[in-house]
Amino acid sequence: MKKNRKNKELEQTLLLIKPDAFCKKLVGTIISRFEKEGFRILACRMVWLSLAKAKKFYAEHRKKRFHSPLSRFIASNPVMAIVLEGEEAVFKVRKIIGATDPAKAKRGSLRKRYAQDDRFNVLHGSDSKISAKREIAFFFNPEEIYRWKEKIYRR
Ligand code: RTP
Ligand code: MG
Repeated sequence: MKKNRKNKELEQTLLLIKPDAFCKKLVGTIISRFEKEGFRILACRMVWLSLAKAKKFYAEHRKKRFHSPLSRFIASNPVMAIVLEGEEAVFKVRKIIGATDPAKAKRGSLRKRYAQDDRFNVLHGSDSKISAKREIAFFFNPEEIYRWKEKIYRR
């Protein structure tokens, strides 16, 4: 398991910038927030999911009444899948995203500020290390996750 300079374990998590964030021109603002919070971007891809793939991504909710409309929304425009790395990344990224329903989200969270409601809620973050592993593999091959060097190359 990779550790940082403080010998703390580093986690990877999947952040998904949802279609409504594209419509609102929030992609840069969102990425900037996670960089400022200290996360490293290890992988990034913009993709327009088919309805079948969107349904598969949200398979855990397949029995819920909102599964179909949620999947249609996710397939309505492109999304951006990003692998973030950092200390307690799974928990911390979800904290920065905020509660599913922006009316219940804490001040300072991205959903509080930018989400319209509990469907058009701008972002998805993996909810456990197991989900993160599955969701990262959903979007990326292992060789597409870059462990880049933090030191600037010098001549
Ligand atoms: P996400 O998976 O998108 O990060 O959101 P979450 O963990 O905060 O919420 P989750 O329970 O996993 O639900 C996934 C998405 O389904 C939609 N949803 N609609 N009552 C409803 O109509 C309802 N509940 C959930 C939301 O768009 C949520 O983001
Ligand atoms: Mg979820």
